[in-house]
Amino acid sequence: MANGMGVGIIGVGRTARAAAMGCRAAGLRLVAVAEVDTAKGEAFAAEWGMMLHASYTQLLARDDVSVVFVLLPHFLHHPAGLASLRAGKHVFMEKPLAGTVEECNDLIDAARAAGVRLMVGHHYHFTAPTQAARRILQSGELGRPIMAMDVWHKPFFGEYRPPWFLDASKGGGAWPMNAPHMIDRLMWCTGRRVESVLAQVGSPIFGLSATDSGVAHLRFNDGFSATICHGAYKDGVPRLETEFICTEAMLRVTASEVAIGRAGEYKPVPLEKTNAYLDQVAAFARALESDEVETPISGEYGREVVAVLQATEESARRGCEVRVAELLPVGTQLERGA
Ligand SMILES: NC(=O)c1ccc[n+]([C@@H]2O[C@H](COP(=O)([O-])OP(=O)(O)OC[C@H]3O[C@@H](n4cnc5c(N)ncnc54)[C@H](O)[C@@H]3O)[C@@H](O)[C@H]2O)c1
Repeated sequence: MANGMGVGIIGVGRTARAAAMGCRAAGLRLVAVAEVDTAKGEAFAAEWGMMLHASYTQLLARDDVSVVFVLLPHFLHHPAGLASLRAGKHVFMEKPLAGTVEECNDLIDAARAAGVRLMVGHHYHFTAPTQAARRILQSGELGRPIMAMDVWHKPFFGEYRPPWFLDASKGGGAWPMNAPHMIDRLMWCTGRRVESVLAQVGSPIFGLSATDSGVAHLRFNDGFSATICHGAYKDGVPRLETEFICTEAMLRVTASEVAIGRAGEYKPVPLEKTNAYLDQVAAFARALESDEVETPISGEYGREVVAVLQATEESARRGCEVRVAELLPVGTQLERGA
């Protein structure tokens, strides 16, 4: 079924080339792109042999598009996602699924009503280090995970930053951009879900409405706790590293390495070669071919990540610990992290 299905890409965001490559590799047919920046849209359409539309409404009216990739600024995930699902298109939504739990509910309900698939782009499920970390942690060979420290620092202006990224009302900021990855990695690797959050999030470095840094203590089920610490600095040194302390040993995970810590030293674990974004699109394409309604990263999973993110922002505002279940529709919290 997926073979030859027509794809529309909405927004030539930073993951658009990887999405297009993934679609080609998975046997999906690149048909149309919607982009408001004409020069960017024309260049992308020419490179991938697609039709350019100035608005996603035009793209969604096409009968030859049955799958859309929404690669837009965060504040547009909800309207564009909803319009796509209501038009009967299968949707791949870049992370985070939407800005609030309520918006996520709308998207999940719309997918169900239209009988189409919804997948969220938490691509760390497909990176070799995260996959190895999940396998090791869930095998029990290190005992039970007790705690973790997840640290991610990068320059705020190190890469192209569009105006929406500087505006909190548009879902901008380093925290909404990167904390979903940190929350997702911990949930997915441990198979646990976050129960409560105590956080400090803000913009002490740049004084913008959009955040530049945050630290959050996440209390998971099964006695596991983690701190996520993210600084998008003016000047500094990049770092991406998670250290897990388990009852029998330790585990360190970076962007390129996984190592088990025993007897005072870390020893690297051999990793398979993967191409995370391509593998992610291939998994989406396989879900389109199957009878399973769920995609590998469901709307419900994406909503749980958004609930934790929202809990960090609520906690920072209220100055107290926030329970994630308070934010989710009654009875919908996941049994496990994944
Ligand atoms: N998984 C990852 O590693 C990763 C990396 C980067 C970005 N992202 C995600 O990708 C999404 C986009 O982020 P980005 O940094 O690429 O943003 P961006 O601003 O660089 O790209 C968004 C694009 O959408 C276009 N656009 C804006 N409004 C539009 C509209 N109404 N119709 C059509 N096009 C429109 C913009 O002109 C721009 O080209 C976000 O959800 C972000 O979190 C994920």
